[in-house]
Amino acid sequence: MQTVRSSEELAAALPEVRKGGTLALVPTMGALHDGHMALLDEAKRRAEKVAATIFVNPTQFAPGEDLDRYPRREAGDARMLEEAGCDLLWMPSVQDIYPAGFSTTIKVSGVSARWEGEARPGHFDGVATIVAKLLLAVRPAVALFGEKDFQQLVVIRRMVADLGISVDVVGVSTVREADGLARSSRNTYLSEDERQRAVALPRALRLAREAIRGGEPVAASLRRAKQSLVDAGFLRIDYLALVDAATLDPLDEAAADMRLIAAAVIGSTRLIDNVAI
Ligand code: PAJ
Repeated sequence: MQTVRSSEELAAALPEVRKGGTLALVPTMGALHDGHMALLDEAKRRAEKVAATIFVNPTQFAPGEDLDRYPRREAGDARMLEEAGCDLLWMPSVQDIYPAGFSTTIKVSGVSARWEGEARPGHFDGVATIVAKLLLAVRPAVALFGEKDFQQLVVIRRMVADLGISVDVVGVSTVREADGLARSSRNTYLSEDERQRAVALPRALRLAREAIRGGEPVAASLRRAKQSLVDAGFLRIDYLALVDAATLDPLDEAAADMRLIAAAVIGSTRLIDNVAI
């Protein structure tokens, strides 16, 4: 695996990598786990060459969020990527991505507005802008994103379609711990006790899914799921909602293509999760 830092080094490395065939890109913020590795495995199935990026993107963190304490494990991450068969790793600096005078923001309206967009103002502007920059710099045929961040996936699909970026955006199913908790770099913030209680989040989503599938009224199903989070000691529920999987508009009745999405805080850690119905 070749590791590059500056965009000049990247540009110099790309032609050689491209000679090997179609290129897939896996963008990450590092602190890699099995969820990221599932994206890499899927990338290898879909393209001959795989590039990954590690960049803790400051513009998608609001002031007061966890930018400073976000876990960083460059050497270990590089080893994992190399072992998984990654061909090229790009780890740009903040200065490289956002040089002095940088003034452009990509704002995807509509699908960004609610849920994470409401709880984390500006978050998706930061995500859309960095993902566009990464896609334009690497120009992969395929880019892989996790369903774990379901709204992010929808926002990126919208941006790629709107800007006519020529890339196949592929969503990958959420990888979970044995007890059902979605793998996340932020799980390392949880104390042992919080970690045990955190399983209430996927459990609440599964219970609501079964209830809705069984024909129970949506509002009552969601109410019961939220109560189970309160009972497990979640301090704040930002949302637990049934949404249209394409528009992310809230649904109060079952529809053809739906998703249950949730964000809630346990201790000082904010967790998100979602399930298909
Ligand atoms: P990060 O949180 O590092 O996640 C990188 C990719 O891994 C995202 O597409 C995310 O959805 C996926 N992922 C994380 N946990 C997963 C899990 N348990 N199962 C499956 N996929 C999982 O998401 C970001 O970084 C950033 O916003 C980024 C897109 C890199 C832009 O900065």
